Amino acid sequence: MPDTLTATLTQTRPADRTSPFAPARRERAALVAGAAVGAAVLLAAARATQAGFLLPAMSRDAWLAVHLCSVIPALPLGAVVLLGRKGDARHRLLGRIWAVLMLVAALSSFGLKGLTGSFSPIHLLSILVLVSVPRGVVQAVRGNIAAHRRTMTFVYFGLVGAGAFTMLPGRLLGLALFH
Ligand code: HEM
Repeated sequence: MPDTLTATLTQTRPADRTSPFAPARRERAALVAGAAVGAAVLLAAARATQAGFLLPAMSRDAWLAVHLCSVIPALPLGAVVLLGRKGDARHRLLGRIWAVLMLVAALSSFGLKGLTGSFSPIHLLSILVLVSVPRGVVQAVRGNIAAHRRTMTFVYFGLVGAGAFTMLPGRLLGLALFH
């Protein structure tokens, strides 16, 4: 009997530790990066508001307003979706909202040409997001969950990376953070 118990435990323990609902290592890395960038974006946005230039900039430029109103909630919402239980109704609802926010972020970026006066290399990321989000949705609908997880984690990394780049000195949020 004890032998049977030992055999059962050694067989089931590894499977328990790698639950399909648990965030994978790549997703956990995305979440840590997302928390750091989210904190920096919030700090920069608060400083820019306090300095009195963020709200006037957003009211002058509707694309900037739409862009910021999509990317800022997408950071914590994406983290909740990546961290939470996968596949249930809550995941599907929050995932859809996040996917729409990412599409709005990418589409609105085509109205922003501040860095070069024309399209910049960051617009390539916008195209990638416009392709990847529908691809990730199709993968989920077809039941290819491993590919769906990879694609959506990649898009979240894109969001975090683009957010980190906005902290560069000379960019709107970078100016607020470093001056
Ligand atoms: C937390 C995430 C993000 C934040 C806080 C953010 C913020 C901003 C801000 C403030 C600008 C105005 C230009 C400037 O910085 O001076 C901007 C421009 C832009 N953003 Fe984002 N963004 C984020 C995510 C994204 C994502 C996910 C994409 C692509 C899908 C994207 C694509 C762009 C592009 C292409 C521009 C125009 C660059 C240029 O000036 O030529 N951003 N973003």
